[in-house]
Amino acid sequence: MTRLDRVEQTRTLTPRTAVIWAVLRGELDRRPGERLTVLDVGGGTGGFAVPLAEAGHQVTVVDASPDALAALTRRAAEAGVADRVRALQGDGDALAGLVEPATVDLVLCHSVLEVVDDPAPVVAALAAALRPGGAASVLVAGRAAAVLGRAMNGHLDVAAALAADPHGSAGPRDTLRRRYDADGAAALLAAAGLTVEEVHGVRVLADLLPAAVADGQPAALVELERALAARSPYRDLAAQLHLFARRPA
Ligand SMILES: C[S@@+](CC[C@H](N)C(=O)[O-])C[C@H]1O[C@@H](n2cnc3c(N)ncnc32)[C@H](O)[C@@H]1O
Repeated sequence: MTRLDRVEQTRTLTPRTAVIWAVLRGELDRRPGERLTVLDVGGGTGGFAVPLAEAGHQVTVVDASPDALAALTRRAAEAGVADRVRALQGDGDALAGLVEPATVDLVLCHSVLEVVDDPAPVVAALAAALRPGGAASVLVAGRAAAVLGRAMNGHLDVAAALAADPHGSAGPRDTLRRRYDADGAAALLAAAGLTVEEVHGVRVLADLLPAAVADGQPAALVELERALAARSPYRDLAAQLHLFARRPA
């Protein structure tokens, strides 16, 4: 049993995390026994950073929010991995001043590109931080799910605005600046020189089901999410899209 197995056994995999962990596990399994240098940009309170540190990796979290970093530091201490988690306040498009270029084995950027001013320089900074051959795990909000979700809740005007807006935002009151389809997100990463290897849908079903179903059959839901995640058209209707990409060696 690997250290990540032990970490996974102590945590409940949810529809939000199961597909992403499955992809990350594939990358970690390629390099058994190695202590990887991981960078989590916009890593928040450490939902991925702390388990990765528990699995033995050295993780730096760069986040704009001091509050999130304080919570991360507490969480890392409680998990006994404070020595393997470094918290840095900073901006995702200014990584060069915080992290030595071309030194990172695995970079995470989850639920960040939809809120930053401009995603392109952030993705360029992620790519520059990676060593040749290093991998990027990028999670973005899905556009189709947002359109369908607004419509199913009766907000047809918002659904129409989202569908028509070139960035997939419903306007100034929308909490997100943009949403993606798989091709658009892949093109963003490719423009920074990254080779996209896998695209999965995250939460294909979870947000559509009645709570009684989701809460009553959690293991079956996770299993079905994993079964549908890579298959079109299910993937393309997911609430989030997970892209796994690599800096060419
Ligand atoms: C929605 S949270 C996602 C947190 C975490 N990645 C996750 O998936 O649970 C977005 C995080 O990005 C951070 N953030 C937003 N804009 C940023 C920027 N320009 N540079 C760095 N972090 C940023 C926020 O402070 C917040 O912690």
